[in-house]
Amino acid sequence: MKIAVYPGSFDPVTNGHLDIIERAAGVFDKVIVSILQNTSKKPMFSMEEKVYLLQRVTKHLDNVEIDYFSGLLVNYMKNKKANVIIKGLRAVSDFEYEFQMALMNNKLEPNIETLFMMTSSKYSYLSSSIVKEVGKLGGCLKELVPDEIINEILRKIKNEGGEQNGNPITN
Ligand code: PNS
Repeated sequence: MKIAVYPGSFDPVTNGHLDIIERAAGVFDKVIVSILQNTSKKPMFSMEEKVYLLQRVTKHLDNVEIDYFSGLLVNYMKNKKANVIIKGLRAVSDFEYEFQMALMNNKLEPNIETLFMMTSSKYSYLSSSIVKEVGKLGGCLKELVPDEIINEILRKIKNEGGEQNGNPITN
């Protein structure tokens, strides 16, 4: 079974992420979307919220699982018996950092390959940060994040004033 891991911060998931997840799900037997538990960055969305949003927008994909990890990605991958890292590339500006990470991961664990997918051009301007900024400033999130989570993301941005409080989003 070919298992790929799509790692990231997903703070929050965008249509650009979902595009990569859907396409990777068509190529691999199983795709684990894994959220980094990063203690040094202060995310807007709690881990519970990120998991909830990702589960909601991928529920049509039977071979996609949502998980989280901390520490080295390659160690997590060994535990999951996965040997392919999926990354999305939006623009040339992503390349240098992604290239460095891919080489480092390969140095740490030579059996692990990084495969890059070019983000669909209609999403090449998208990032979680820009989605949060547009939402905070009252802009429309249609076509930036999946329709079914627009209201939840806006509610979070408005209610929390951009701060994470650790409570899962509830309907
Ligand atoms: O969505 P992001 O923030 O660009 O994702 C970055 C991520 C999670 C893929 C990257 O920070 C990562 O893999 N972190 C885990 C720590 C690690 O393994 N570092 C060594 C490889 S460079």
